[in-house]
Amino acid sequence: MPLRIARALRAAEGIRSFELVDPGGGELPAFTPGAHIKLRTPAGLLRKYSLCNHPQERNRYVIAVKRDATGRGGSISMVDEAKDGDLIEVLPPENAFRLSRGARSSLFIAGGIGITPILSMIRSLQDTHAINWKLLYLSRHANQTAFLQELGELDQGGQVVVHHDEGDPSQILDLWPSLEKPKSDQHVYCCGPRPLMEAVRDMTGHWAAGRVHFESFVDGGVPRREDTEFSVHLARSGHRLTVPVGRSILEVVREAGCQVAASCESGTCGTCRTALLSGQADHRDMVLMPEEVDTQIMLCVSRAHGAELTLDL
Ligand code: FES
Repeated sequence: MPLRIARALRAAEGIRSFELVDPGGGELPAFTPGAHIKLRTPAGLLRKYSLCNHPQERNRYVIAVKRDATGRGGSISMVDEAKDGDLIEVLPPENAFRLSRGARSSLFIAGGIGITPILSMIRSLQDTHAINWKLLYLSRHANQTAFLQELGELDQGGQVVVHHDEGDPSQILDLWPSLEKPKSDQHVYCCGPRPLMEAVRDMTGHWAAGRVHFESFVDGGVPRREDTEFSVHLARSGHRLTVPVGRSILEVVREAGCQVAASCESGTCGTCRTALLSGQADHRDMVLMPEEVDTQIMLCVSRAHGAELTLDL
């Protein structure tokens, strides 16, 4: 659907927020806390951005985009070129980072621009005072930290902890005191750079399954210099397919007509979990437990260490 940029504002250094509305003034498809949209940037690339406004608002979507100078140009074109009045092609909201409504307590851990889905979650929790929440918001410098004023207004008594490490590794906030002792009714939600999510995953191995949730913005995972082409053997159909550098197993098997369910497409939700029958996988997801890595694989992000993987497809 084409949406109009009603307002583009500077949210912090290198970050712009965009308010998107229906050009005819109509209502937009509803969304739930933690949801994202995909939109076509001025550079022509389809990119995923979390919605950060209150889900009850039906007449606008608000996103924030960080200019990534090392990316492939999608965020640069949004920050540098998108302006008030422009029409942008937007796909309806999806959600692979849902709030658990059964939880009595929520711990949010946001790194940098990872605050966006969490801001929407916190806004929605303001309506239900039965749920305790706390936010640990980590960023490098204060001037690169978006939504500080909004979070100040949502904070009702020390729930928001903002920590700037000024780029000094010795100043990184120690998350262990917050994660060491799982609370029986608490869920953890983490969104941010990969190293932050991996640190949280490593510190929450002793939490009950389903209590720790991650969101990543990079569909198909981050390409790595060491990536190589490999093949997948689909045991049920007998097909053998090549997975080139820059494409995911999920994309390749779907293109070959294989129906595989997927949601986040960034290795965080577990929807594309598939049985791995042979071969050594290069796991890049945030879902699998150590005891599962030899027999399961997330097709949206993971690759192969060897020449071939055999999948139960
Ligand atoms: Fe979410 Fe693959 S689709 S982990």
